[in-house]
Amino acid sequence: MLTQIKELAENLAPRLIEIRRHLHSHPELSGHEHQTAAYIAGVLYSCGLRVQEGVGKVGVLGELEGSGADPRLLAIRTDMDALPIQERTQLDFTSRQMGIMHACGHDVHTTVGLGTAMILSQLRDDLPGRIRFLFQPAEEIAQGANWMVAAGAMEGVSGIFSVHVFPSVMAGVVGIRYGALTAAADDLEIMIQGESGHGARPHEAIDAIWIASQVVVGLQQAISRTHNPLRPVVLTIGQIKGGRAPNVIADQVRLLGTVRSLHPETSAALPAWIERIVAGICDTYGAKYEIHYRHGVPSVTNDPTLTRVLESAALEAWGNQGVQIIQEPSLGAEDFSVYLQHAPGSMFRLGVGFRDRTNYPLHHPNFEVDESSILTGVVTMAYAAYKYWQSGKR
Ligand code: NI
Repeated sequence: MLTQIKELAENLAPRLIEIRRHLHSHPELSGHEHQTAAYIAGVLYSCGLRVQEGVGKVGVLGELEGSGADPRLLAIRTDMDALPIQERTQLDFTSRQMGIMHACGHDVHTTVGLGTAMILSQLRDDLPGRIRFLFQPAEEIAQGANWMVAAGAMEGVSGIFSVHVFPSVMAGVVGIRYGALTAAADDLEIMIQGESGHGARPHEAIDAIWIASQVVVGLQQAISRTHNPLRPVVLTIGQIKGGRAPNVIADQVRLLGTVRSLHPETSAALPAWIERIVAGICDTYGAKYEIHYRHGVPSVTNDPTLTRVLESAALEAWGNQGVQIIQEPSLGAEDFSVYLQHAPGSMFRLGVGFRDRTNYPLHHPNFEVDESSILTGVVTMAYAAYKYWQSGKR
């Protein structure tokens, strides 16, 4: 089976590069992926898949029926949105949309999803079960996965795979991570209400700027003393607004921040913990406060069994030098975690780094990928899908 998949992928490689370049030059922003979705649907129809458009606003589903009777339904998820970034690469197929760029590799993800569908549709007689391909919109604004799930995209799914490119892993290498891959990303807003007064008469006022400063320092210090250091939390206050004049004591300050954590228990405990610190400081100095804590996407935690399927598929396909076990999670966020609330799954990191030149990070206007990685991604995904039905019990 692996030999067949590799042969099909090699024959398809020029077409896949063409697809990726088309997507790259026609990027669309989150929630507006209309052309991209229509293009994807066209490819899926041509492979004979059952296609559903407009799923989760602009998402696309393609379903491939195998010939076997295994009841398990495997999902393969890729995302298709681009970023509000002006591309600065010198590529011939650079973005044709001013200020929009595929700078996070979602053009590659979509191509891997389509390539996998193209290959497996030719091998359907050997597939023991069904596969559903999910092409989701709006990953960059952490909404698309919720839209897809709400539209029923995960109904009946028993396992799910996904992929994200990674420029610090070289092309030709597949990164595998057991356990937490990305962090939960929550939003924090704290309003502090004091009382205005003359800058020379602080005792007659309640200085919201000074109290807000104590809150910022207090939160940072308390993290290091009250949280288990083996369960990381990063709290960043990225925005402070308050005050009207140099000689007027501010009555109101608004703090905005992001909170990242890896363990679900940590994320669940954070709102009450933050409130305790803020309340303690505000009560001491007579200020009022309001806290808005919004849980964003949870942490992506890869399932051990499905991660083993990915790892063994990649090892068989590329040998030891083609597989890298990723030692540390990232505190970035990925809405693939939303699907993992509904079925076990695993996401691999597809190495797209060039060996002989500078690799720019994701979301950078000069970000580029080594396109040889597309074949690596497609073979790994297609073979892992095949091996999925060989794993575990029915
Ligand atoms: Ni991304």
